[in-house]
Amino acid sequence: MTKPIKKIVFPVAGLGTRFLPATKAIPKEMLPVLDKPLIQYAVEEALEAGIDQIMLVTGRNKQVMEDHFDHAYELEKILQEKGKAEALEISRSMLLPEGSISYVRQMRPRGLGHAIWCARHFVNGDPFAVSLPDDLIKGKPGTLKQMIEAYNEVGGNFVATMDVAREDTSKYGVITPGARNGNMIEVKGLVEKPHPEDAPSTEAVVGRYILQPEVMDHLAAKEIGAGGEIQLTDAMAKLIGEQPFHALNFEGTRFDCGSKIGWLTANIAMASEDPSLAARLKEAIGQL
Ligand code: G1P
Repeated sequence: MTKPIKKIVFPVAGLGTRFLPATKAIPKEMLPVLDKPLIQYAVEEALEAGIDQIMLVTGRNKQVMEDHFDHAYELEKILQEKGKAEALEISRSMLLPEGSISYVRQMRPRGLGHAIWCARHFVNGDPFAVSLPDDLIKGKPGTLKQMIEAYNEVGGNFVATMDVAREDTSKYGVITPGARNGNMIEVKGLVEKPHPEDAPSTEAVVGRYILQPEVMDHLAAKEIGAGGEIQLTDAMAKLIGEQPFHALNFEGTRFDCGSKIGWLTANIAMASEDPSLAARLKEAIGQL
């Protein structure tokens, strides 16, 4: 029997330098795609997968995310007075049961692995999911749900992966693949951001993980990896051989919303599926 996945950690302390000046005063996770901030898409995907305990690993200047998941009394009062029922409902859509979301500060930017380690008391010995909100994935069901279904069959650890162009391997964690079973691939090795000529495959990790709590023991060693940072990939690599480790080549489209082109494409993709926008969007783009 595998222990169910009820907890998720969102590392959201990053500076968002690729989106300056937009991200000078607002967190990159609050950038909207259409009308919802990235963090909301990520939380909705987790809820769809049956996860109900959420931790955001934040940093300075990230408080506005706490406000996003709380009442906005003044706004709600005005919308109520004006009889704007639909807007009121939308503004309240992210009010989860009290106590569902906790926050911890990563006090220094020491890498993704360090951010996850900051959530060790929340994880407290349970298997957990990790999601990077920059990676917006459109899929039905959502990627986390697909991963949890696979995890319920074989247990252990999972990374979501997709096949990328070889010249792009240096942007990702990359797996050494073993046996394949449908879209599930045994992971025999993991390396962070390899040069194309050194990459063990082109199966690249995108920002969704299911991890066993023992990863925290490896993160506690605080070994410095690629880019001078404490890498989650390095700690995960140490679990291989100790525990089952699989990749799920998920079904869905991933947008790298940490990059301008990915974020723009995500906006267009979402708008193209909105019947109130699709036709006018096409027309507007045609006129550019
Ligand atoms: C992080 C991870 C990397 C993963 C990527 C997915 O890198 O370290 O292994 O492939 O997210 O988006 P980052 O994009 O934060 O540099």
